[in-house]
Amino acid sequence: MNFLSDNAEAAAPEMLEALRLANEGAAIPYGEDSLTVRLQAEMARVFEHEIALFPVVSGTAANALALAELVPAHGAILCHRGAHIAIDECGAPEFFTHGAKVVTVDGPDGKLLPNAVEGALEQFSKGSVHHAQPAALSITQASESGTCYRPEEIGALSSLAARHGLKLHMDGARFANAIAWLGCTPAEASWRAGVDVLSFGATKNGALAAEAVVFFNPHAFGDFAYRRKMSGHLLSKMRFVSAQLLCALAENRWLLWAERANAAAGRLASRLKSIAGAEIVHPVEANIVFARLPETTIARMRAKGAKFYDWSPPAAGRMLVRLVTSLATTDADIEGLIEAARD
Ligand SMILES: Cc1ncc(COP(=O)(O)O)c(C=O)c1O
Repeated sequence: MNFLSDNAEAAAPEMLEALRLANEGAAIPYGEDSLTVRLQAEMARVFEHEIALFPVVSGTAANALALAELVPAHGAILCHRGAHIAIDECGAPEFFTHGAKVVTVDGPDGKLLPNAVEGALEQFSKGSVHHAQPAALSITQASESGTCYRPEEIGALSSLAARHGLKLHMDGARFANAIAWLGCTPAEASWRAGVDVLSFGATKNGALAAEAVVFFNPHAFGDFAYRRKMSGHLLSKMRFVSAQLLCALAENRWLLWAERANAAAGRLASRLKSIAGAEIVHPVEANIVFARLPETTIARMRAKGAKFYDWSPPAAGRMLVRLVTSLATTDADIEGLIEAARD
């Protein structure tokens, strides 16, 4: 009963098979291999756009390196208060930008609203040497609260960003889950809505360790290739990272797997509603459920082996917990959790 995280799950068997196939013979190192070349073309097909793509092996690297390309050392990056880049990356964006300021903004259900971003921008005087200069807006798709930005919401944020001279970065560690839920094309929820750079995630969705930084202007990736090398993310055996990303895209697996994870979250949320004292906190759109539950219920679930994270200290005998589903979540996991809660 793993509800800790989607990246706590085993890799999909298809990934291991893809790695086995990629392991036949020698290949040119450092991303010059035929799989990485094919991946560029495949991703361009998926996004219906020319792109420049750089595989890396962690989401933190994808985000921090992408932001370092977009933001100078004296810049500011605006993002949601709960954003992974702000609270879960140990300052990697600040480190790789050599000092840019990460500025957090509140927003309901894990998403930013344009007027809140406008308000945050008012703190900064353009051209004043005393103020960090806002240079990028970063949004998370699906958000850390499990909600998804609709293309028109992204469009509103990108127009605002453009008006203020900011680049729009998307942390897409769960981009697949967002697309599966939105039912739109990857293009509609990215470059067509004004996203400049996407951190495309696969590790949470079947891969062992594979992410990619996708620049939608294929001629505007600046020094990114050097940054990736300096950070140690230009793997000599890049073919194995590219093989995982290709495996995810093949036969539309990335969306089918994400759909499976999302559907499990939907079932989990509806079953949790039947538990006395349970409250679902954010709309359940992608594969994350936040539930406020009685502490006694939580203790019973854990005693039966359920694994999930606490998300707030106890208050009035209840606690907020986060439950994440994945392509590997079964009905038996969900029913096991519900039975434990009821015992
Ligand atoms: C929203 C988000 N972004 C990025 C990441 C990637 O992090 P990692 O560096 O652990 O691959 C995660 C992982 O938990 C995440 O939830």
